[in-house]
Amino acid sequence: MKNARQLAAFTGIAALMGLVVAEKVPSPIPIGVSVAQTSNTALLGREQVIGAQIAEEFFNSRGGINGTPFKLFFEDTAGDEAGAINAFQAQINKNKVVGIIGPTLSQQAFAADKIAEQAKVPVLGPSNTAKGVPQIGEYIARVSSPVAIVAPNAVKAAIKMNPDLKKVAVFYAQNDAFATSETGTFQETVKAQGLEITTVQKFQTTDTDFTSQVTAGLATKPDLAIVSGLAADGGNLVKQLRIAGFKGIIIGGNGLNTANMFPVCQQYCDGVLIAQAYSPAAPGALNAAFRTVYKNKYRKEPPQFTAQAFAAVQVMVQALRSVDKKTKVNDTELSDVRIDLNKAILAGKYETPLGTITFTSEGEVIQKNFYVAQIKMNPDNKTGRFDYLK
Ligand code: ALA
Repeated sequence: MKNARQLAAFTGIAALMGLVVAEKVPSPIPIGVSVAQTSNTALLGREQVIGAQIAEEFFNSRGGINGTPFKLFFEDTAGDEAGAINAFQAQINKNKVVGIIGPTLSQQAFAADKIAEQAKVPVLGPSNTAKGVPQIGEYIARVSSPVAIVAPNAVKAAIKMNPDLKKVAVFYAQNDAFATSETGTFQETVKAQGLEITTVQKFQTTDTDFTSQVTAGLATKPDLAIVSGLAADGGNLVKQLRIAGFKGIIIGGNGLNTANMFPVCQQYCDGVLIAQAYSPAAPGALNAAFRTVYKNKYRKEPPQFTAQAFAAVQVMVQALRSVDKKTKVNDTELSDVRIDLNKAILAGKYETPLGTITFTSEGEVIQKNFYVAQIKMNPDNKTGRFDYLK
């Protein structure tokens, strides 16, 4: 009897706790953005913040979530795994977001996405391009096309520029999951194109002095150098390759795809080829509108990381609209909305600045068009632009 009473009391308290713990989604509807706002990774992350902010204003001024506004909560991941885990936890438990856009690096995604997966919170990677990111879990998808799809375009462009290319020196950051994945794709592509890899040089994303890699790499007399790293290390490596006298073509990977690298590599960045998952010149009304807003504010063309972050917010917003049509999101149980949002993300078709995108059932993005751009530095040696190749 005593035990039965205790059990009843316990069940009552649990039920009460259930009532207390159960949360409704407030208005404005909270969406998390966790990218690198500090550290070297912020060279990429700063462009993502801009894309997300533009999307917030853009879609809220067009009705938000069927009349309910949404609000982006920014939690800085900085550049490492611990930062990403902390930021994701804050989004899930403190900001109580319906979904998370982030993190910047694949290296961080492999650590932090699991936290969201366990909590059943949908994640949209805005820039994670390593193989295997969508496979982290059911709640993980990305708008950033993987290295296997994007990177080969740069090798083909280099061959077109110099059909006599034969010898290739490959450099990659071995402490970074994306760079390791990307160099795999680059090396396969190079071999498939009948070129010879003369050397594979490894470095760390924290390195600043590449003397030994440059010396060993150039000793093999390559016609092409391919760098998979991040913007700060990659920029320094490009610079040191040129200062050491390398005259051949340089391909930079996705981690070097930012004008924020220009102050690092200065005039030595001129001519670097980088494959692109976005082109400002891509057709479509949404890209035209996005490009106009960006250009009015920043007086230049929007870069890939900004366009992808915009697209990630857009996907969240459109998926939320579709969830909301069935059951009003605002004032519905947060845990239910998160589950429904994940399903809606994967089911939708989105006309974004990246073109039309859809997702596989695993959360891999399906996108049609890719491009290659070449860096053109200005005489000030600090600023420049990406010229898209025909
Ligand atoms: N594309 C880079 C990554 O996946 C930024 O880490």
